[in-house]
Amino acid sequence: MTSVQDDSVQDDTGAASVAAFPAGFRWGAATAAYQIEGAAKEGGRGPSIWDTFSRTPGKVLGGDTGDVAVDHYHRFAGDVALMADLGLTAYRFSISWPRVLPSGSGAVNEEGLDFYRRLVDALLAAGVEPWPTLYHWDLPQPLEDAGGWPERDTAHRFAEYAALVHGALGDRVRHWTTVNEPWCAAFLGYASGEHAPGRRDPAAALTAAHHLMLGHGLAAGAMRAANGDTLVGAAVNLYAVSPATDDPADVDAARRVDGLQNRLFLDPLLLGRYPADVLEDTERLGFVPGGADLDADLDVIGRPLDHLGVNYYSRHTVAGTPGEASQTASSPFAAHSPWVGSEHVRFVPGGRPVTGMGWEIDAGGLHEVLSRVHREYPSVALYITENGAGYDEAPDENGTVQDAARIAYLDAHLRACHDAIAGGVPLRGYFTWSLLDNFEWAWGYSKRFGLVHVDYATQRRAPKESARWYAGVIRRGGLPG
Ligand code: NOJ
Repeated sequence: MTSVQDDSVQDDTGAASVAAFPAGFRWGAATAAYQIEGAAKEGGRGPSIWDTFSRTPGKVLGGDTGDVAVDHYHRFAGDVALMADLGLTAYRFSISWPRVLPSGSGAVNEEGLDFYRRLVDALLAAGVEPWPTLYHWDLPQPLEDAGGWPERDTAHRFAEYAALVHGALGDRVRHWTTVNEPWCAAFLGYASGEHAPGRRDPAAALTAAHHLMLGHGLAAGAMRAANGDTLVGAAVNLYAVSPATDDPADVDAARRVDGLQNRLFLDPLLLGRYPADVLEDTERLGFVPGGADLDADLDVIGRPLDHLGVNYYSRHTVAGTPGEASQTASSPFAAHSPWVGSEHVRFVPGGRPVTGMGWEIDAGGLHEVLSRVHREYPSVALYITENGAGYDEAPDENGTVQDAARIAYLDAHLRACHDAIAGGVPLRGYFTWSLLDNFEWAWGYSKRFGLVHVDYATQRRAPKESARWYAGVIRRGGLPG
């Protein structure tokens, strides 16, 4: 069992004790390329599916795009200085595939690679460990034109791209994440159409999920073959899922949603197989992932991970009993319904307070998710690669964002992490989402997740109260006890 000591020294808030995290625990923040970089047409970058999607009327709130975002492409040095001020020991960011390979494959844009070389060098010089993610949803448009993730070839192109980036940065970067939230990329992108590329084809979404995982496995193999010291993981968005009541119909609804949301990814990545009950449900509707290549694909997908990234935000409560067809504000119903069966599943409110996204706040669910992964899957090192709260917020008359609700959210979730570690879960680090306010996908700039406020008109950065609070947590290595 991992030991978590509670030291009794006085911390800088005056608290008598500190709920301390283990030595070496990574304290990070996360971002993603399309959400922060801007410079969409500079430096030789090609178009991605998000450039196309955000320009399609009605797809993104306010018609917002990532063209400028928070201009990180030009301001990365100042942003790295901010990270150092906060005391971050690690920074999770993503590489823009179309910045490096404007057509998705073939001709390399050295200027794009150079941007990431400079970013990584700046991070290392500031004592912040770089944690790149290779795919955070910005598929090069030419690859979508050729069929996108439902096309098997995309997985192979992804592995080539991964090998290229790893060749440029692998001597200075140890921890790699292949794909971010394959559920979102597949189901929001290809089933509900709420995200790029905006397709509404449920079978394509399941095939996309399979190929995202295949791409992960092929990329991991290529990077490890090039450098035996490279450590590779994937980041999945896991939810706590509970039935509304103990009625067997509700319990079965929870099984279905947990199956599609969590186990569809955890089982192949960590056990090398699909969950039998989920396959039964999808096969009944005529879908078999991977086709004739399934066994060979699962061998590739299921190669041992060096770490699993867990993105956690909320819980789903589901019912299988007839009732109002009411879905919750954050319901992923449109993405799930063809496969979980709209006649079988309703997402219902669980009665908890919500963030500005309408997502229920449930730190206990994070403890549940971490303990479950540790219990049901081979003991793989875990990192929280995302956790945070989005609000529609503004600075006060002194120019500060007083984000007490975000502080309470982070505090509760970090306590859940601390408890999980005390219970033996091999959790090695925590990256909050996000370092900076940024482009929140279909919500545009209307929702802010940053520790640091960004004035989008001037690009001025101003740390929120939560930034000061998080810096204190990092400085003392834990939470006031
Ligand atoms: C999931 C995604 O990885 C990230 O891009 C997004 O902004 C946050 N969660 C908040 O929705």
